[in-house]
Amino acid sequence: MAYRAVFRCIAGCPGEFPIWEPVYRCPTCSDLLEVSHDLGALKNRSASAWMRLFDERYKRTAWPYGSSVWGKKEWVCPEIRDESVISMDEGGTNLFWAERFGRELGMHDLWVKMCGNSHTGSFKDLGMTVLVSVVRQIIEDGGTIRAVACASTGDTSASLAAYAAGGGVPAIVLLPRGKVSTAQLLQPIANGALVLALDTDFDGCMAIVQRLSQDEGIYLANSMNSLRLEGQKTVAIEMVQQLDWEVPDVVIIPGGNLGNVSALGAGFEMMASLGIINKQPQIVVAQAEAANPLYLAYQNNWAFSPVVAKPTQASAIQIGNPVSVRKAIRTLQRHNGIVAQASETELAEAAARADRTGMYNCPHTGVALAALIKLRERGEIDPSARVVVVSTASGLKFTDFKLGYHERRLPDVRPSHANAPLELANDYDAVRKAIDRHASERA
Ligand SMILES: Cc1ncc(COP(=O)(O)O)c(C=O)c1O
Ligand SMILES: [Zn+2]
Repeated sequence: MAYRAVFRCIAGCPGEFPIWEPVYRCPTCSDLLEVSHDLGALKNRSASAWMRLFDERYKRTAWPYGSSVWGKKEWVCPEIRDESVISMDEGGTNLFWAERFGRELGMHDLWVKMCGNSHTGSFKDLGMTVLVSVVRQIIEDGGTIRAVACASTGDTSASLAAYAAGGGVPAIVLLPRGKVSTAQLLQPIANGALVLALDTDFDGCMAIVQRLSQDEGIYLANSMNSLRLEGQKTVAIEMVQQLDWEVPDVVIIPGGNLGNVSALGAGFEMMASLGIINKQPQIVVAQAEAANPLYLAYQNNWAFSPVVAKPTQASAIQIGNPVSVRKAIRTLQRHNGIVAQASETELAEAAARADRTGMYNCPHTGVALAALIKLRERGEIDPSARVVVVSTASGLKFTDFKLGYHERRLPDVRPSHANAPLELANDYDAVRKAIDRHASERA
């Protein structure tokens, strides 16, 4: 069976564009494009046959289907040749039952989807494998692409640099200088990308990379390019698969440029179109109060205006003018959506509190957990609801945030779970006394 996917305008303008062409916006109305699949062809296989196929491939070795993105290839990017795929085994990340943290919140069906347990430590790998594989196939077929480029708050550039290096494609990354973590800065450096640290914020980098991609034969790798979202949407399919093909009641996800929430919604909608699920989850987007344009739009009947994002520990979502805002609002309108925000104290405290139950959260996951806590406290999430929190990056990439918290150095945060090491002399009694003091403090 020949499956097909093309770009179409999200505003519904007529016309379709091959995914092999570098078009990122509708030539008629300039709105964003989305990848549209031939659902009629996909319906030739029954829902149960799709589930069986995806389960048979899941985490096995047949190339490239062991990757949980490429295991769903027909739904993602059906026309790519298997040999052109650049995969580092994306997806298949653990979805764990957060038993103890859930209990603290009076919940017994709370799950955390660990998208940061991935090749470059964030969910960005899910989409980047698709985009860079398409670029490789374009080049193999004689197309001219000088380089792939992105603006980034850190994780996108790490992922782009890794996949481009894997496929031998030159990569350029534009970062806001001083606004990404040290680990995130080092990743594209190590993978040999051209790293440009600009004296601006993410929105400034985004404006420049969009110009570069119009004029200079440079292929745009931001999530404005909807090929990325095709890979990212597999997180929805994968979490349902991991829940034995049952849909959670609520999914909470942190939002910056808002591509990821759009992808999440697209994954659930595609499963419904193909008969795999018969209900949609409620979707909650969590934003940092310092960079909250979607939250403000939610408060204002979805009327959106960009803001200038202020510094936040959740640096990867310090974005004031999100590119995918129209897609995100559409997703939220279809999913009984809620937008919540978290202050610097709330996000840091939520991350640290959950860490005390065994997690190791990045600040963006802290934003999502803070939203969960608030919505539970307000009674907007039912104690019996099955809730999945999407953890978007590994806490190991955000050492400065973690150390700053435990050493009480984070601006505007008075930590209640700080746990700095006790520095002691080389002395047995000092060690014993410290242990006894600790035990009596906990009693
Ligand atoms: C760790 C992390 N969490 C959340 C996000 C937000 O995703 P999006 O920009 O697609 O809303 C990003 C990227 O921007 C990120 O790197
Ligand atoms: Zn259009």
